[in-house]
Amino acid sequence: MRSNKLLLVSLILAVAFVASATVSMAAPIVMKFSHVVAENTPKGQMANKFKELVAQRLAGKVVVEVFPSSQLFGDNKVLEAMLLGDVQLAAPSLSKFQKYTKSLQIFDLPFLFKDMAAVEKFQQGPEGQKLLMSVEKKGLIGLGYLHNGLKQLSASDPLRVPADAKGKKFRIMTSDVLAAQFKAVGAMPLKKPFSEVFTLLQTRAIDGQENTWSNIYSKKFFEVQPYITESNHGLLDYLLVTSIEFWMGLPDDIRAELKKALDEATAFGNKVAAQKAIEDRQKIIDSKRCTIIELTDAERQLWVDAMKPVWKKFEKQIGKEYIDAAVAPN
Ligand code: SIN
Repeated sequence: MRSNKLLLVSLILAVAFVASATVSMAAPIVMKFSHVVAENTPKGQMANKFKELVAQRLAGKVVVEVFPSSQLFGDNKVLEAMLLGDVQLAAPSLSKFQKYTKSLQIFDLPFLFKDMAAVEKFQQGPEGQKLLMSVEKKGLIGLGYLHNGLKQLSASDPLRVPADAKGKKFRIMTSDVLAAQFKAVGAMPLKKPFSEVFTLLQTRAIDGQENTWSNIYSKKFFEVQPYITESNHGLLDYLLVTSIEFWMGLPDDIRAELKKALDEATAFGNKVAAQKAIEDRQKIIDSKRCTIIELTDAERQLWVDAMKPVWKKFEKQIGKEYIDAAVAPN
């Protein structure tokens, strides 16, 4: 009788031990973070910082795997892959969400923000925060914004005034606002993935493109584009995005810890963005491979006059209240 009892207790203990071992050995949650830029960029650095913070704080519970330079998914596929559960985190440019929401098109309106301080104010204000949720209906959650910076125009010929762009082919991101912006100066916009831009420029299949100093430097566009017009005409920032299914399926404590790490990594990435806008511009100048064209106030005004009518065209889709709130910090 006594030995039966002993056997039972030992059995229960053995089952409990195996169960607890199974729990503690449970496979960590894997978060694949896919992006298209190089590692030495604001987004590349932010992604690596996030991975590092998660490894410190959620060791054994969550593992972040970062895939830079379109290694896992390119521009056109990453959000579809996210909804299928093949990738858990991405930070596409705000210009690449047109299929998911029309509201984020606001960030593509030319000459909308005076500087990055105005961008930050709008993004952190009530309207900017509301826009984070504009992708919700499509099964996605915007977890925050990440800066890259203001865009410049690079080209194979000098661009000083809008007429210089007439008839030229420019690569753009998948945005109808950006298409309208180039059409407004008589140019031909072509929607192409970021991974193809260098070759398109090198082979002269296109004449130019628009991008930030860090992307122009890290992807070596400056080596195949003899002119960069310092236009600061538009914004290239990112939406940190995940799927509702993944995010809401996480245990509350893990979700909270991940959000904290994400916010810290974003603050770090934003600092990198501000530094790189200055440093990468200087590195391009130092390379002596291309000429930087600084516009006079009068020349710049010509670009503003030519491109700004695009606002009206998209006002209804975007919402006037958002545009008003965005220009307020200027
Ligand atoms: C990016 O910065 O993620 C890519 C921007 C582009 O497609 O030009």
